[in-house]
Amino acid sequence: MSRVHVLAALALVAVGGGLWFALDGLGLIDQNESLRSELEAEFDDAYPEAPAGGGELVEISLVAAPSTVELVEGSATDVWAYNDLVPGPAIRATLGDTIRATLHNELSEPTTIHWHGIRVPNNMDGVPELSQAPVEPGQSFVYEFTPPDAGTYWYHSHVNGSEQLERGLYGTLVIEQPQSQVDYDNDITWLIDDWLLIEDNQLDPAFNTPDDRGHNGRWGDIATVNSSLSETIRAQPGERLRLRLINASNGRVYRMDFGELTPKVIAVDGLATSRPIDPGELNLAPGNRLDLDLSVPENPGTYAVSDVYLGMSRQLATIVVEGPTTGDVNVEVAGHSAVPDWSGALDASVDIELAFETQSVDDDWIWTINGDQFPDGQPLELDHGRFTKIKLVNLSHPLHPIHLHGQFFKVLTRNGEPVDEPNFRDTVLLEARETVEIGLIPLDRGEWLLHCHIQEHADAGMMTSVIVS
Ligand code: C2O
Ligand code: CU
Repeated sequence: MSRVHVLAALALVAVGGGLWFALDGLGLIDQNESLRSELEAEFDDAYPEAPAGGGELVEISLVAAPSTVELVEGSATDVWAYNDLVPGPAIRATLGDTIRATLHNELSEPTTIHWHGIRVPNNMDGVPELSQAPVEPGQSFVYEFTPPDAGTYWYHSHVNGSEQLERGLYGTLVIEQPQSQVDYDNDITWLIDDWLLIEDNQLDPAFNTPDDRGHNGRWGDIATVNSSLSETIRAQPGERLRLRLINASNGRVYRMDFGELTPKVIAVDGLATSRPIDPGELNLAPGNRLDLDLSVPENPGTYAVSDVYLGMSRQLATIVVEGPTTGDVNVEVAGHSAVPDWSGALDASVDIELAFETQSVDDDWIWTINGDQFPDGQPLELDHGRFTKIKLVNLSHPLHPIHLHGQFFKVLTRNGEPVDEPNFRDTVLLEARETVEIGLIPLDRGEWLLHCHIQEHADAGMMTSVIVS
């Protein structure tokens, strides 16, 4: 219930039930407001409102055009790519730098770029109609922003995502800390995607089918890391690696299994965690990122990295340990950032409830949020700087990785049970019929998209917008 609704309900109580109820009700409101102030104080600039700036200008030109990539050895798969690369050029900058990226559209349809997880000015967010006009074939658009947070991010098309992402229009974006607490021997980004191929190793041209929309989107039959079926890292015992995982798949969820290796998750969706987490405890849903700190063990050998989300194990990549020992093995990993505990938020009232549902229409499926298929429905309104609690309710069986643009949030409960995640997120997976409550303090003004990151669900209407003012 919004505050307006609470007041309206109280007014009714006051008319019908007498003064005492009303006063009692107002007391509750005060309590709720003082609780919110405590939660806001607890946030304590966990991440900054505005970027620090003061860095360099990092310029890049991104040409979106048809190209080919060698997913299966010896055969060229037709894709759409930035600068003929899938993933697109790896963008790396240091916190404080400004990124100026010029998109040139050489596709036969409109496109845009969204900088997933980066808190950009609203008009740089790449959402067609909401934050910019789609970039037509032959046209260009200049994106310029100064990322306020270090971490692992990615960029991707935000037009016709069920086809444009599936064809390969995405890339990695890493913002480094000016001084990292740990001196890593290697800093590696793994962008994970799956592909649905037909004969000749070409992409199945039936994108966004009713079946994809009615289930968990399009799941491929091969999964690649950086478009390779055999991605391999070679490392020496005692080396310390930072491994940045990004799920760019349209629908597939991964759960990483490192076998005998014991890396720890040190960042989720970009921001550092306040304590290390075992990777086996976290899903890597479409849109999510996990940063791992891995100390390479003493024993030489070949270690498999696999996905076990569906129960069986599927190898994604390999880490080969060889050569002489260079440093300490089994280093203790520490948490870094201050993430508010927000356990007090369990008592705060829910400000907004969003129910996700599907409807079958003429042998097809549409997706709605509170009954509306995007762009129908009204934008939600959030107050800048105010602790806000949102309840996400999956009334369906399919999975929904819910992504909010322009803001980070923290998961508070799952199916009514408190959860203690030591991290913020920008994307949270809702499993079948699951309810998740999140808390956030909106800091970035503008109209932002909230949607399911399963591209086929989003394209079938599972989006809404949130105005922060
Ligand atoms: Cu990566 Cu609107 O999404
Ligand atoms: Cu969904």
